[in-house]
Amino acid sequence: MKFGYFDDKNREYVITTPQTPYPWINYLGNGDFFSIISNTSGGYSFYRDARLRRITRYRYNNIPLDSNGKYLYIRDENTVWSPSWKPAKTPLDHYECRHGLGYTKITGEKNKCRARVTCFVPDEVNAEIQILNLENLSDKPKTLKIHSFVEWCLWNALEDTTNFQRNFSTGQVEIEGSTLYHKTEFRERRNHYAFYHVNTPVKGFDTDREKFLGLYNGLEAPDAVMNQTAYNTEAHGWSPVASHFIEVSLKPGEQKQLVFVLGYVELPDKDKFVSNQVINKKPAKDIISLFDTPEKAVASFKRVVTKWTELMGGYQAVTPDEKFNRMVNIWNQYQCVITYYFSRSASYFESGIGRGMGFRDSNQDLLGFVHIMPQLAKQRIIDIASTQFEDGGAYHQYQPLTKRGNSDVGGNFNDDPLWLIAAVSAYIKETGDISILDEQVPFDNNEKNMASLMEHLKRSFDHVINNLGPHKLPLIGRADWNDCLNLNCFSSNPDESFQTTENKSGGVAESVFIAGMFIKYGLEYAEICSQLKNTGEAARAEKCVAEMTEAVNNHGWDGEWFIRAYDYFGKKVGSHECEESKIFIEPQGFCVMAGVGLADGRAAKTLESVNKYLACDHGIVLNYPAFTRYHIEYGEISSYPQGYKENAGVFCHNNPWVIIAETMNGNGNRAFDYFTRISPAHTEEKSELRKTEPYVFSQMIAGKEAYKPGEAKNSWLTGTAAWTFVAASQHILGVRPAFNGLQVDPCIPAEWKEVTIIRKFRKATYHITIKNPSGKNRGVSELKVDGDIISGTIVPIFNDNKIHKVEVIL
Ligand code: GLC
Ligand code: GLC
Repeated sequence: MKFGYFDDKNREYVITTPQTPYPWINYLGNGDFFSIISNTSGGYSFYRDARLRRITRYRYNNIPLDSNGKYLYIRDENTVWSPSWKPAKTPLDHYECRHGLGYTKITGEKNKCRARVTCFVPDEVNAEIQILNLENLSDKPKTLKIHSFVEWCLWNALEDTTNFQRNFSTGQVEIEGSTLYHKTEFRERRNHYAFYHVNTPVKGFDTDREKFLGLYNGLEAPDAVMNQTAYNTEAHGWSPVASHFIEVSLKPGEQKQLVFVLGYVELPDKDKFVSNQVINKKPAKDIISLFDTPEKAVASFKRVVTKWTELMGGYQAVTPDEKFNRMVNIWNQYQCVITYYFSRSASYFESGIGRGMGFRDSNQDLLGFVHIMPQLAKQRIIDIASTQFEDGGAYHQYQPLTKRGNSDVGGNFNDDPLWLIAAVSAYIKETGDISILDEQVPFDNNEKNMASLMEHLKRSFDHVINNLGPHKLPLIGRADWNDCLNLNCFSSNPDESFQTTENKSGGVAESVFIAGMFIKYGLEYAEICSQLKNTGEAARAEKCVAEMTEAVNNHGWDGEWFIRAYDYFGKKVGSHECEESKIFIEPQGFCVMAGVGLADGRAAKTLESVNKYLACDHGIVLNYPAFTRYHIEYGEISSYPQGYKENAGVFCHNNPWVIIAETMNGNGNRAFDYFTRISPAHTEEKSELRKTEPYVFSQMIAGKEAYKPGEAKNSWLTGTAAWTFVAASQHILGVRPAFNGLQVDPCIPAEWKEVTIIRKFRKATYHITIKNPSGKNRGVSELKVDGDIISGTIVPIFNDNKIHKVEVIL
């Protein structure tokens, strides 16, 4: 069952009912100011950091669901309704929500009045703009009474939901004309305030929530709205809000536009006030003046649309599969950009309080957006590397506002360091900018202790070498990619965090997954050394990789698949010998991606095992059979009920590893099949079961052993975005950046006859046509560049701002 449809021409998902199976959201933002907005206008705004600079309030996991947003109430005679259905929840005659790239348009219609709200965050200022278009569809004049509503958050989102003894007394506002200012704590240490403005004179306003709503009311029927008035309140303490009361008259057929501006301002200390307690409003007025007419606001909106067209223009493909095209060309790339901004910090599943930027997460996200925003990728790499420790280890997370490592979660996740190599290698292959390796980057943000980025990579590489276990496989530390495989945790105390507790540290528990990673990224490290003509270091790296491959061959193979790990006691994890969870997905994907077993048939064998034991209709589950009880020696993984999250859920993030592995083994049909099982566009018909948005990947889909297989959770902020884009664009379509050119080596479904791709790469545009006359999966039989046959699969770098024609025959 569907709740909307894709409008590919406009790059929108069009939601046709407000009652979706879960709130379906979008992101608006410019890199600094952000809003999350749901299809019923729920959500909130923040500046840079959803914890420390929360601008409007949101109530996570509250009832009713999706509580709080930026709302409008329209009174037309005796009917009060909201264009986004919520919060008034009056049944609408027509409803539509269009989530586009960087904007959302919500239209509601009631009693022959149409209201469309277009929300976006322009590049030029820190504000969300809402253009309200009102249209009288009747043949009688209408007078509408409109209330706007936002609720301010007292900045620190954690304090805001916990420290009531203080924050019920701190709230402060100022009111001037049609602008309502929120200035809580500005009198002391804050240098920022927010404001909500509308470009028309108001009949009244409210800033005191209790008076606006009525103490025991919810948002559905506020007192002010029901009483057709505003109380002109000035909030002192409690919960400040901003509500404009506006009257609009419309002749039959007439349309009018109002522009609302929700803005954020920072001021130098000396300029904060114009007089005692009166804030300096000039910067706010400067922002407002840019949007004081609908024409200006619409022009700004168009710039946002153009920006996204350009951002998506670097990779566009036409294949016989329309759904695949819309994922690759629109939604998957869009989601990659969103993960760049947010890592795992703010979504409808991530509260914006708990988690900052992940070291491993942000490095992986980069794989999906580096071709879109190479400059930002470079800065991101430097920021991440600056949190690395001298010994090559890493803080697991850092805060976006301060860019400092977050000691709450600590370190010792032993896969972390290697992801830095993955990111830097992808950046250099994309841009050719090898000079990034000379950048001086601190350790642990200590400017007195700097080294080149290349040295950081070496420390990453050596961190693995310096932490090997009894089988010469990498020690796992707290955990590897699988945060929940906690082999040194041994926790029997529910008040301990699985992630940060290490009750036993035997120096025995090893990860075959990290071994696979080390082989893959160790080889890339060696290649980087070769690029720098450091043959000595390249040779050393290759030797270490060969030894690791040896260790995997000797101790990492179970007979039909790769084992997952060795536990604290040196016992195998993910082996046929185990009582539960005999096979795990991660080492199968990563070892094959690293090339292990491709030559001797073990890759093919393990991929058969994955297909037999792990694949199901909803994707490939993480492990099988699921843990049915808590295993203290495995930690959090066995704490989840069967089929959910890391305990045998389809953890989508690692599905593309298997997809890539399948392409390396030449099975394009199966690679594509696996893609379609988790792809939101391909599973749109299952929206009711899935619950989450049919236009972006979710972190997890409940696996075959779950109570409710197929139900998804945690949409948007997941490494799935980057990895599926890599799998689809670089491995199925096969167009991948290499140090010395653009490799074209597709592995597609046999029935695809023709594919065309436009790829911008190193200042040139490649128009690639792939023809598949004999119905193959893989294998380039002829490659022409600008009409001339070349050997191999690597198309040269041109760097000439021109278009080049690439013709491939399989
Ligand atoms: C809060 C504190 C209390 C303190 C009082 C005055 O009530 O809990 O310990 O004495 O504020 O600052
Ligand atoms: C979450 C974490 C990620 C981890 C994954 C598997 O998505 O953000 O870092 O790799 O879970 O545990």
